[in-house]
Amino acid sequence: MNIAVFCSGNGSNFQAIADSVKNGGIKANIALMVCDNPSAYALERAKKEGINSLVIERKSFKTKDEYEAEIIKNLEKENIELICLAGYMRIVSPSLVQRYSNKILNIHPALLPSFKGTQGIKDALDYGVKLSGVTVHFVNDKMDQGPIILQEALEIKDDDTEKSLAERIHQIEHKLYPQAVRLFVEGRLGIEGRKVKIR
Ligand code: GRF
Repeated sequence: MNIAVFCSGNGSNFQAIADSVKNGGIKANIALMVCDNPSAYALERAKKEGINSLVIERKSFKTKDEYEAEIIKNLEKENIELICLAGYMRIVSPSLVQRYSNKILNIHPALLPSFKGTQGIKDALDYGVKLSGVTVHFVNDKMDQGPIILQEALEIKDDDTEKSLAERIHQIEHKLYPQAVRLFVEGRLGIEGRKVKIR
């Protein structure tokens, strides 16, 4: 199975998936990284791993549709069957979601449906919740609202800062995302309405 990983920044989740492919946990091939930010560290990681990357900036296209059409063209060229959003800071449009229906995963640094959006870690800390965590979910046409595949909770400590909490969240992410990708690749995820059954 050919996988594409979409990134905008550091790419540590891409790295975790790539490491799991290398050590045989995920029996699939990362055929492409799609990155909308030419200065993302994720691109260095792809280069080091020998993984082909497509740098594609939204500003090079007149409309979002044209931007995504170019992405889809490249995904089709590589016969991509699974897309992993990993710190990709854009909302994917309905055309991409429909073309790859139930084949797009995302990781979110909070326990959805709480703290959707781009600041899940900060928002959970500011709100004062005692538990937060990580969610891996399918992507549908509503942001951070697709069926949930895996979640893991962690306790927020009184002296946590955004940095200390982020560190523990990332540790969980790097374990949970490869696990979810593996389940997908092995055909073990069944979607029944909002529920994902692991077989
Ligand atoms: C992660 O915290 C992920 O949950 C969120 O964006 C961050 C990406 O980090 N969607 P990285 O680029 O994978 O290091």
